[in-house]
Amino acid sequence: MRLTRRNTLLALAVVALAVVAVACAPNASQDSLNPQGEFARKSHDLFVPVFWVAAAIFVLVEGTIILFAWRYRHRKGRDQIPPQIHGNTRLEIAWTILPAIVLAGVAVPTVTTIFDLAREPEATNLQVNVLGHQWWWEFNYPEEGLNVPNELHIPTGRPVYLTLCAVGFAYSEDEPAPSPSECQPGGGEGPNAAILGASVIHSFWPPELAGTQDVVPGQTNHMYLEADRPGTYEGQCKEFCGLSHAYMKFTVVAHTPEDYEAWVAEQQQPATSDGLTGSAEAGRDAFLNSIPGGCTQCHAIDGLTDASGEEVLGSNEGPNLTHFASRECFAGCILFTDDDEALRRWLDDPPAVKSGSWMPDYDLSEQQIADLIAYLRTLE
Ligand code: CUA
Repeated sequence: MRLTRRNTLLALAVVALAVVAVACAPNASQDSLNPQGEFARKSHDLFVPVFWVAAAIFVLVEGTIILFAWRYRHRKGRDQIPPQIHGNTRLEIAWTILPAIVLAGVAVPTVTTIFDLAREPEATNLQVNVLGHQWWWEFNYPEEGLNVPNELHIPTGRPVYLTLCAVGFAYSEDEPAPSPSECQPGGGEGPNAAILGASVIHSFWPPELAGTQDVVPGQTNHMYLEADRPGTYEGQCKEFCGLSHAYMKFTVVAHTPEDYEAWVAEQQQPATSDGLTGSAEAGRDAFLNSIPGGCTQCHAIDGLTDASGEEVLGSNEGPNLTHFASRECFAGCILFTDDDEALRRWLDDPPAVKSGSWMPDYDLSEQQIADLIAYLRTLE
């Protein structure tokens, strides 16, 4: 087929339209161009002017290239090479100095914003440790004594100072049972070196509330976020970290200050095994005994007691399940806790749902799964 000029233009127009159209989404939940808090706004206020400066330079430079290429293109009857110009000193100086001035101009607000976003926390800031696991986020509230997977709950109108670090999974049988319940700086020498050694780099990104921050093994990084209004804001790991990188999501739930206090008080209550009957009681026993060592090898439920009333401590290597039923999401926030079918699929074969999941397929029976779901439902 012969490509006419008209066909070529038509094809280009369709491609251009398609490129523009993929940017359209009616309810884009991770929209960094729609800041919902002070720190996201600071990044946005830097991004917008820098973008327009860059856009103007792009149009000017590319436009001039296209104009000159068109204007002085080869035409029939023009067999001679036009006069060649080299070393125009004034031009050379101009296009060296101009970009330097533009870059210096852009550097001023950039550096100011970097310093502004990196300042030390104040006493009134809420402090939360953020631990990047493969492949889920742990939110640790040292003051409040809370350990919440997948969901970062914050009060509105109060800066939240995050301390981020990456933790891994202990591969070695000889290592003491790790409890990565707090950020552990120090590289490969600390008591839980295996945990850090097995970890990978993540990047924490709640687009509507803040920029991104890398989460690096053996190092603690910091960032601020804040929400103006109550609501739910989605976030995502932004650095490739292995098989389920795309499934390493989280949600930020912003409450009014009163609702936040109520949430903290609720979360501080342990779960209770009192009064469990039928399927829920069988589920609690399945949680403790269905697999060698019990689900408590990786999961903790504060206040969990066995059939004889003895308290059972779990490990926080996996997500803490104390208030599972009152949470929105699980499994790296890709599944919803109120969805029985999702829970059933997950317990049946976790790696089939989330590639590479450290929770293996334990070959649980349909009955065990049903009982476990009934028990998890009691963990309000
Ligand atoms: Cu964690 Cu990508």
